[in-house]
Amino acid sequence: MAEQSENKIALITGGGSGIGKATALAFARDGAKVVVADKDIQNGLATVAMINDINGEAIFVEADVARTSDVKSMINTVIDTYGRLDCAFNNAGIVDPADSSAAELPEEVWNKVIGINLTGVWLCMKYEIQQMLKQGGGAIVNSSSVLGIAGATIAAYTASKHGVVGLTKSAALSYAQKGIRVNAVCPGFIDTPLLNPYIDDSDAKATIVALHPIGRLGTPEEVAESVVWLCSDAASFVTGHAMAVDGGYLAQ
Ligand SMILES: NC(=O)c1ccc[n+]([C@@H]2O[C@H](COP(=O)([O-])OP(=O)(O)OC[C@H]3O[C@@H](n4cnc5c(N)ncnc54)[C@H](O)[C@@H]3O)[C@@H](O)[C@H]2O)c1
Repeated sequence: MAEQSENKIALITGGGSGIGKATALAFARDGAKVVVADKDIQNGLATVAMINDINGEAIFVEADVARTSDVKSMINTVIDTYGRLDCAFNNAGIVDPADSSAAELPEEVWNKVIGINLTGVWLCMKYEIQQMLKQGGGAIVNSSSVLGIAGATIAAYTASKHGVVGLTKSAALSYAQKGIRVNAVCPGFIDTPLLNPYIDDSDAKATIVALHPIGRLGTPEEVAESVVWLCSDAASFVTGHAMAVDGGYLAQ
C-alpha cells in the first residue's frame, strides 16, 4: 500500500524532542516532506539529520510558538519552501513544576504555560488555517493530554490542555465545510524528557505507571502513529475529536 503521507508537507512544532521528534520521523517514513520547528536549534537540527539518515526530506525552522512574529515567519518559510501546508501537528509544550496547585501557582508560571501550551496552539492554528483556506484544505492535530479531559493538581498545565480540546472542537466546527479537519491527541504519560522530573525516583515512576491499565508508560512512537493517521486521508470523516492514546488511563 502506498504511504498515506506521500508528497504531503507536514509541520511539527516541538519537533526537536520526545513526541514531536518521533512524529517528524513517522511522517518522513510515511513519505511526507517535514518541517521541524522548535525553539531549540540543536535538537531541531538533530531531528532533521535523523530524517536525512533514513533518506527523508526535512528542513528546520527556529520558532518560539508563543511569539506571533516567529509563528508568522515559520508559516512563511513553509510556504516559501514547499508552496503548501497539508498537515500540522501543534505539539510544542511545557509543564509547570510538580507542586503547582491553583493557589500556590506563581502568576508568571501561569502566563508562561498558558502562553506556550494554549495561546501558542491558537497562534499556530490561526496562520496554518489561513494558508489551508487558500489552498483548499488540510489537517491539523493539536497536542492535548489525558489532563485535557481529567483533572490533576498541576493547575496551569491542566487548564491549558482542557483549553486545547475546546479550541480544537471550535476550529473543527468553523472549518468542517472548508476541507480542514482539526483533531487533538490526548496522550497518557509518555516516556520523554518532559516527564523526567516526575519519574526521578522509582516510587514516583511506579505511581505514574499505575495510572495506566496497560501497566507501563507510553512511547513517543505510539503517539506519533496516531497523529500521522489523524492527518491522513484514512481519517477523512474524523474531525473535532480528542483521541486518547493513554494505555486505558481515561477508561477508568
Ligand atoms: N510526555 C508526556 O507524558 C505527555 C503527555 C501528554 C501530553 N504531552 C504533550 O506532548 C507535547 C510534547 O511533549 P514531550 O513529552 O514530547 O516533551 P519534550 O520536552 O520532550 O519536547 C517538547 C519540545 O517542545 C519544544 N518547545 C518547548 N517550548 C517551545 C516553544 N515555546 N516554542 C517552540 N518549541 C518549544 C522543546 O524545545 C522540545 O523540543 C507537549 O505539548 C506535552 O504537553 C506530553
